Amino acid sequence: MKIAVLPGDGIGKEIVAQAVRVLRRLGLPLELAEAPVGGAGYEAAGDPLPAATLVLAREADAILFGAIGGPQYDALPRDQRPERGLLRLRKELGLFANLRPAQVFADLAQASSLRPELVAGLDVLIVRELTGDIYFGEPRGITTLANGEREGVNTMRYRESEIRRIARVAFEAARRRGKRLCSVDKANVLETTELWRQVVSELGKDYADVQLSHMYVDNCAMQLVRNPKQFDVIVTGNLFGDILSDEASMLTGSIGMLPSASLDERGKGLYEPIHGSAPDIAGKGLANPLATILSAAMMLRYSLGHVAEADRIEGAVRKVLRQGLRTADIYTDGCRKVGTQEMGDAVVAAL
Ligand code: IPM
Ligand code: MG
Repeated sequence: MKIAVLPGDGIGKEIVAQAVRVLRRLGLPLELAEAPVGGAGYEAAGDPLPAATLVLAREADAILFGAIGGPQYDALPRDQRPERGLLRLRKELGLFANLRPAQVFADLAQASSLRPELVAGLDVLIVRELTGDIYFGEPRGITTLANGEREGVNTMRYRESEIRRIARVAFEAARRRGKRLCSVDKANVLETTELWRQVVSELGKDYADVQLSHMYVDNCAMQLVRNPKQFDVIVTGNLFGDILSDEASMLTGSIGMLPSASLDERGKGLYEPIHGSAPDIAGKGLANPLATILSAAMMLRYSLGHVAEADRIEGAVRKVLRQGLRTADIYTDGCRKVGTQEMGDAVVAAL
């Protein structure tokens, strides 16, 4: 099994290093090959997605990704910025289905910014469409009007076929879980999502065993902090999913805990923590590696067919949390504060 390892920038390198140690500890026949992406790709080859990195990613059975971005790249032309590397990778590989589970580990309910009883036992899956919407819609750009004023333009658009295939992934996921699917849109204002609602409802007829509901995105943002346990699976577009998944991550105590899978039509995937490159703490050994380690577990489960090993990793993470080890982002009184390396050591030891 070939795995492309793309650590990226900032804390990406530190957290991916820990996930790689965990993977190696399993003793599976994994071939890991590393390549630069994001700012690191720009430094190495003048391109946030160097050609050789794309080839490696294409040829791999799965991709383990860290994080990209940093303030030193903010002034670059848009197509050379780190984010473009990740967005192009998603698009080039057809990784349209982004699964972002927000689960509260029993020992972390105290670390949430919400009262523990609101989040204890929470298990929500956000299914985010990842290769369409306003992220990729044309026309786009910043132009100067006849009167000299500048105007920024982006286009929100979805085709029926794009909506149907992400909705199918979500219905299938709901079928394997709590059998409830909430589709999130802004159908009261945006035609794109009016179509979204129609298409999801039509497909719902094929899934009579799944209870389908619809919710406007503003209401959903509110419901996620009011009563998050009402949700089982949420399906939504690229932009709304980006925002709601950051919000949902805080329910679990820290954005440093959330893994994700981005899958193509055949189940090949890219696995990454949902957090960014955290330039403020990069290189200090403070970052929480658990979201990346849990992403490696998702990789074993969804792309490599090693469900037992995925369970082992998740079990090891639960164990170190039970032992009271915490990186700074999930620290609460009475626990033992550890750095990136020590948290990795503990997971490896627990395995
Ligand atoms: C995410 C990130 C990316 C996105 C950025 C880094 C381009 O926020 O994966 O959620 O907006 O999709
Ligand atoms: Mg995001």
